[in-house]
Amino acid sequence: MRPWESWVARHSAKSTREFLAASESKWASGDVYNYAIAKDGSLIGMCQTYRGAEPQGRRMGYWLHPAATGQGIATRATAAMVTEMFTLPDVEYLEITHDLSNASSAAIPRRLGFTEVLRDRGTPPAVPSGSGIAVVWRLNRPTPPINGTPCP
Ligand SMILES: CC(C)(COP(=O)(O)OP(=O)(O)OC[C@H]1O[C@@H](n2cnc3c(N)ncnc32)[C@H](O)[C@@H]1OP(=O)(O)O)[C@@H](O)C(=O)NCCC(=O)NCCS
Repeated sequence: MRPWESWVARHSAKSTREFLAASESKWASGDVYNYAIAKDGSLIGMCQTYRGAEPQGRRMGYWLHPAATGQGIATRATAAMVTEMFTLPDVEYLEITHDLSNASSAAIPRRLGFTEVLRDRGTPPAVPSGSGIAVVWRLNRPTPPINGTPCP
């Protein structure tokens, strides 16, 4: 994770305790939903969704332990999060942002049918190995199928 997540360099047991303690109130307020990704009872990663710039938009992120990559786990976890978020009536779109050089991260929104909507030179601190260019992908709430009896 170090190349792509600037917070990892400051990681410690204390910061993890603080993160977990804050997670409950953030879940309760709807600001951030953090999900553990587990396999056979072991934590292998996490994904999260948090409020975006607009009330009808949410952002999403993910990471995996290196031993758990290459199996589609992050894609499936993110797909599950997408389904879950669109059960919330106020969520109209979801966004994923990653550095332009983070090809593994980019593959996830691409696989899930997101559309690239923006490339932006981000403000520091940029991710350690990043190009400094943030790529934003968006997925709109699917429109429900029109059913019922057609008008005569
Ligand atoms: C981003 C990150 C989670 C992606 O991990 P990943 O293993 O590439 O993603 P997935 O778990 O979805 O697996 C996809 C891989 O499994 C393969 N795969 C196998 N079965 C699959 C399936 N059923 N569905 C999708 N992909 C599958 C894909 O082909 C792909 O492999 P490839 O990269 O060789 O083409 C990981 O690189 C990571 O933790 N990075 C550090 C943190 C980070 O950058 N987070 C994002 C910040 S924006």
